[in-house]
Amino acid sequence: MRNGIRVVQQVCLCPFKFFHKIRLMWLKSKLTSSINAFGSLSRSRKVIVAVLLLLILVYYLGASLFGHGGTTKRPNLSNGCLDEKVQTFFKQSLNYDAFINHNPLEEDEKPYPAYTGNGHLAAAFGTENGLFIRLNRALALPVNFYPVVNMNIDQSFVLDIKSGIVHKFQSFKQSWHCVQVESSLYAHRSRPSVLVQDISISNPTGDPVTVDFDQIGASGWTGAQTKTLQLRNGNEGVYNYRLSTGIVLVPDHPDLVVGAAIATRVITDTTLVIKPNSKHKQHIVTVVHYTKGMTKAEAESNIPELTKKVKKDMEEVMNINEKLLLREHVKVWEQLWKTGFSISDSKAQKAINGGKINTTIYYVLCNVPAPLHEITTTKQQRNEILKVLYYPDTCYAGHSTLQAETLWMDVVDEDHIARVVTTWMITLEKQGCSGIVQSGAEGVLQAMVLSFGALEFKNQHLELKRHPKELHRDIFFHRINYGNNTHVNISVIVGEDNKANLYVSLDRNDKPYYACDAGCVDAPIQLR
Ligand SMILES: *[C@@H]1O[C@H](CO)[C@@H](O)[C@H](O)[C@H]1NC(C)=O
Ligand SMILES: *[C@@H]1O[C@H](CO)[C@@H](O)[C@H](O)[C@H]1NC(C)=O
Ligand SMILES: *[C@@H]1O[C@H](CO)[C@@H](O)[C@H](O)[C@H]1NC(C)=O
Ligand SMILES: *[C@@H]1O[C@H](CO)[C@@H](O)[C@H](O)[C@H]1NC(C)=O
Repeated sequence: MRNGIRVVQQVCLCPFKFFHKIRLMWLKSKLTSSINAFGSLSRSRKVIVAVLLLLILVYYLGASLFGHGGTTKRPNLSNGCLDEKVQTFFKQSLNYDAFINHNPLEEDEKPYPAYTGNGHLAAAFGTENGLFIRLNRALALPVNFYPVVNMNIDQSFVLDIKSGIVHKFQSFKQSWHCVQVESSLYAHRSRPSVLVQDISISNPTGDPVTVDFDQIGASGWTGAQTKTLQLRNGNEGVYNYRLSTGIVLVPDHPDLVVGAAIATRVITDTTLVIKPNSKHKQHIVTVVHYTKGMTKAEAESNIPELTKKVKKDMEEVMNINEKLLLREHVKVWEQLWKTGFSISDSKAQKAINGGKINTTIYYVLCNVPAPLHEITTTKQQRNEILKVLYYPDTCYAGHSTLQAETLWMDVVDEDHIARVVTTWMITLEKQGCSGIVQSGAEGVLQAMVLSFGALEFKNQHLELKRHPKELHRDIFFHRINYGNNTHVNISVIVGEDNKANLYVSLDRNDKPYYACDAGCVDAPIQLR
């Protein structure tokens, strides 16, 4: 438990208790009135009716034994309920674009934290921690604010790196059907102050189901003030949100604090009965604004300004349709992943494979803002960023980062992620990439991809500094920036003779481009 004050955070999901009794009573009265009619039937008809009655009894008793009996027990999930939903990510998981974590982990699953971030804030499913905000190079500063709603039944997580969304699936069986609780969490990529959790509960059974939500928000946050505010929304009427403000201490820096204001939409009913054959949705928006590290007095004087920003963003975001909000977010992640890296699997011990590479890129990008896509960025700022991205000066000047073990540590929580991210950022900055790294997520991804291949830009030419002996896996670099609006793909394909062949292609030929191999002993060839 992370602190003493916190009340039980978990949500109980239990079948509706009274309904079962009512239905059995109904069954009994039906039975007595039918017994009279039963006497007047012929023998063979009696057998059929008796068999039918038996079947009905088995159905109801079965349902009440297995479906309603253990209202206080944890539902047993080895029943096929959960996997239906999780399996929709199976295909993506084969290409390392999504990562499934059952609880407990299945044999072939590697643990990857179900973490989302946008350079300004981060949160995760399946964690004891609350919100994380920026401190230096990573989202390393924990806040005693718990924005995520959890539920106390078995669950599976899916980390969908391509859309930057983490999913949580929970389900249990009731009278032969699966009640499904699906939750997605994302730190919005173009609205950095926004964290969204969408919960959807579907009850396909004939019984009502009761769900208890318990929202924590600020807890153990010393000196924080919380108040409930109202907001009027055109379509939905009035709803409440809770605003917490306070200062966050910076570990190891006694005279440095961060001022923060955080608002979360309050769940309408903490206990909710989901009617038979119906669905229910909750759209929980959290808005976070905070200062840089400063003195306590300075931070406190900034609180009114932060509060104003939070209120403004809350109002704006709550007026956006939840599907549109999600689409905005997913579009940016898709845009980011246009640049990338593929590598064939290697069975060698300690070899870094696709899963590790993709998740590491994802965790790093979660810790970096994407100003190119943020809605507050002006056209002029956008042009400045593009200019930096076109010409990556001397990036990347070191050895291939695929060989540096500290950059590929296994991560189990937010602290680990922050540490790995910091190591990556320092490495890239030191090896000539500080310019493009400053331009945000695009620049960082370019730098990482260049660093995998020890690809170096120098005086407008791009060099692959790898010994042929090192090239024994198929590798594909795609969409590396090369000047204004021009991009290069490079493939390394290992032939049957174990020799690597290089292929290069460009998406724009506004002027002649040349390529050559091994120190340019042979004459360069023109690319077309
Ligand atoms: C859940 O059900 C499976 C098979 O039906 C059984 O093997 C397992 O022991 C059950 N688990 C619990 C906790 O009851
Ligand atoms: C994940 O890794 C695989 C194998 O290297 C690659 O083909 C795929 O494109 C990667 N996915 C993303 C989103 O980069
Ligand atoms: C890039 O090229 C376009 C034309 O294709 C031009 O309008 C733009 O100014 C160029 N940008 C830079 C930074 O050179
Ligand atoms: C580069 O690779 C990307 C991703 O596979 C592909 O969509 C694009 O068409 C390629 N461009 C060129 C010029 O080959």
